[in-house]
Amino acid sequence: MAANIVIGTQWGDEGKGKAIDLLASRADIVVRSQGGNNAGHTVVADGETYKLHLIPSGILHKGTLCLIGAGVVIDPKDLLSEMDSLSERGVTFDNLKIDPRAHVTMPWHITLDGLSEEFRGSKDIGTTHRGIGPAYMDKYERSGIRFYDLVHPEVFREKARSAGELKNAIITKVFGGKPVDLDAVIEEYVGYGKRLAAYIGDVSVLTYEAVKAGKEILFEGAQATLLDIDYGTYPYVTSSHPVSAGVCIGSGVGPKVIDNIYGVAKAYTTRVGKGPFPTELNDDIGKFIQDKGGEFGATTGRPRRTGWFDAVIVRHAVRVNGLSSLMINKLDILKGLDTLKVCVAYKKPDGTVIKDFPPVLEELEGCKPVYEEFPGFTENISSCRRFEELPEVCQKYITRLEELCECPVGMLGVGQDREQIIER
Ligand code: IMP
Repeated sequence: MAANIVIGTQWGDEGKGKAIDLLASRADIVVRSQGGNNAGHTVVADGETYKLHLIPSGILHKGTLCLIGAGVVIDPKDLLSEMDSLSERGVTFDNLKIDPRAHVTMPWHITLDGLSEEFRGSKDIGTTHRGIGPAYMDKYERSGIRFYDLVHPEVFREKARSAGELKNAIITKVFGGKPVDLDAVIEEYVGYGKRLAAYIGDVSVLTYEAVKAGKEILFEGAQATLLDIDYGTYPYVTSSHPVSAGVCIGSGVGPKVIDNIYGVAKAYTTRVGKGPFPTELNDDIGKFIQDKGGEFGATTGRPRRTGWFDAVIVRHAVRVNGLSSLMINKLDILKGLDTLKVCVAYKKPDGTVIKDFPPVLEELEGCKPVYEEFPGFTENISSCRRFEELPEVCQKYITRLEELCECPVGMLGVGQDREQIIER
């Protein structure tokens, strides 16, 4: 039995759901350790499609323990509406546990997310407006409300009032915004706390016990490496650590328990929101990939920006996460393009060629991708289940990605369905 992590290696939406789906069906425990309802996982189970935001995908497998760790920020209103709509489809939550240390996203976080983005004007981050950044701000400022507080009304009322009063002062006096109705919100959230109280559980202890019992564990990542608060394209990032080390912090277990770290990438690159994207294609090819790949955000519906595979960023992800292997998804989408390009390095404005992803945007600015070209393919690869069945050009493309990223490709997605995977 093994403890496996699934991590995004680009800017999110790499199709982690597919790897998670496969591994969750074999897991005894599925753990979410960071992020919040900014995530959107599309998971297919028993022929049905589910869009999950906060609930670990193991919930679709009866008997799988689903844990939401201390590193997650929880919007109780959204969580309950996600649970209600899953309940209508027959999903049960007897096996769901939420760590008392996890922080709660309150309505003022959502208001402040919107107001801050508006204030930044053209320099906005392009957040999901789910209050994620402001909730993590409070956590690190040590003034946040935790899940324990939410399910203890007396504690909650006191903490929410003092936090809310300060936030309302900021909303009204700094931004000139409309204050949150504290009385109404506090009672509304006390109600949510009552409904969620049954789910409290120490995720660190539960995970550790599972490790000791030799259970199969899946740590499902949300967002991705290039959105990491430290190792991503700061400030165009999310406010958590969607890298493998973040899993340990966010679930409360040490790194020695981890056996495999799987990184997921697309055979090309996409990004939602703002921020640098060296291989972005603002042309017909970019549009072709967007349309054919159905590149629209699962959480906000925003069209995703598209571009060529960037081996510089994926190699960065291999290093930062200590990846065991890669899953490359959506290779089938590239069918029909005359030429495929892969970015192998960046050329700086002074002509220097670099292979390591620059640590700060100032150094990334002006960098131009250096491409290697491959012939395209026209064959339908969606029914291939073995690597050797792929057209030779596809095999060469993947083999070259392995060399460039310095990581083996263990799985390949060749179509939308969960069976359309080549396992190597
Ligand atoms: P926030 O997480 O809502 O603060 O948004 C910060 C940045 O992360 C924005 O560019 C979002 O589009 C991006 N982001 C957050 N969650 C996801 C995700 O699950 N997939 C892709 N991008 C995301």
